[in-house]
Amino acid sequence: MRKGENMQVPFVDLPKQIAPYKEDVRGVIEDVIFNRADFIMRDDLLAFERNFAQFVGTDFSVGVANGSDAINLSLKILGVGPGDEVITVAHTFIATIAAIVHAGATPVLVDVDDDYNINVDLIEPAITAKTKAIIVVHLNGRACDMDRIMGIAKKHNLFIVEDSAQGIGAIYKGKKAGSFGDLSTNSFYPFKILGCFGDGGAITTNDPDLNYQLRCLRDNGQDRVKGDILFWGWNSRLDNLQAGILNVLLKHLPDMIHRRRAIAALYDQGLSGIKEVKLPPAPNDGEHFDSFQNYVIRTKQRDALVKHLSAQKIGTLISWKTPNHHHKNLGLTKFHLPNTESISQEVVSLPMHPALSDEEIRYVIDNVGRFFKR
Ligand SMILES: Cc1ncc(COP(=O)(O)O)c(C=O)c1O
Repeated sequence: MRKGENMQVPFVDLPKQIAPYKEDVRGVIEDVIFNRADFIMRDDLLAFERNFAQFVGTDFSVGVANGSDAINLSLKILGVGPGDEVITVAHTFIATIAAIVHAGATPVLVDVDDDYNINVDLIEPAITAKTKAIIVVHLNGRACDMDRIMGIAKKHNLFIVEDSAQGIGAIYKGKKAGSFGDLSTNSFYPFKILGCFGDGGAITTNDPDLNYQLRCLRDNGQDRVKGDILFWGWNSRLDNLQAGILNVLLKHLPDMIHRRRAIAALYDQGLSGIKEVKLPPAPNDGEHFDSFQNYVIRTKQRDALVKHLSAQKIGTLISWKTPNHHHKNLGLTKFHLPNTESISQEVVSLPMHPALSDEEIRYVIDNVGRFFKR
């Protein structure tokens, strides 16, 4: 039998990814449910909020229901509303832009650069008297150029929200993604670098007032200690059980990121000779340390490559085939974003998760190579 004939490499493999932590996770689940029945805003959540803030390098983190709500609550607490404009990218998960619309503000979309993050040169030309905030998205586990972005925010007196749903563990000039802006939003969706067993999210900040207000906003506007209701809020709390599980996984996060980076290095090595394929930006350029939420390649033959890989039982992900501003019902079609539009035709993410074996990675590399007939 030819080597690799029976191999399948799914895009992610959650059972395999979870397996190494099974006993510890089982211990937490047993304890939280059967010993303590601690379900809402208990010690596990408080501990996770401290631990996650420490990981990101901020003073505070506030657990919320998911990464989308993290952005919704962030814009609300910064006072973004009708009449305001918020600058962001179209090349992101739709929740980034939806939050601006839900706040009652107007999204102003700019193009991305070749590293798939916001093209910083395009930010200042997009600023108007109505601009209130910029949401920068650390896509695929790569941090944006935060020095220049923070400089622009300071000059124009704008809020910065970092959408770090895909940026956990990424570093820019020695500081973690999520530690630069006024607020930073995170997702613990199961496919993410730090994924829980359902939905989950968090907001990080160094601002004690925003921390306090967000804690009330996610809990129906209540300060439970004082018995006050500060404003109209929502129920958007991170479950205590999920927080308990995240506490277990967070301990292993540096190792998981280490493995993601090793996998990316193997892909880089194996695919670097294929002239039709553009590899992701170099992960160690002296400024960036990428955590590889996704390993994205770019090729004009994307759709045929995906079909070929699928026939070899290799899973891939396209983020995103239709650019967000081309969905007709969203009212964003006036934007013309050439790089975003060509990226949507050319990008594909190869399998990427810490439990991938070297053999599986080689199988993917061999099959990409075979497609381009190296
Ligand atoms: C860039 C980005 N922003 C926001 C989100 C929303 O996170 P969630 O799925 O936890 O609501 C995601 C994740 O799907 C994302 O990738």
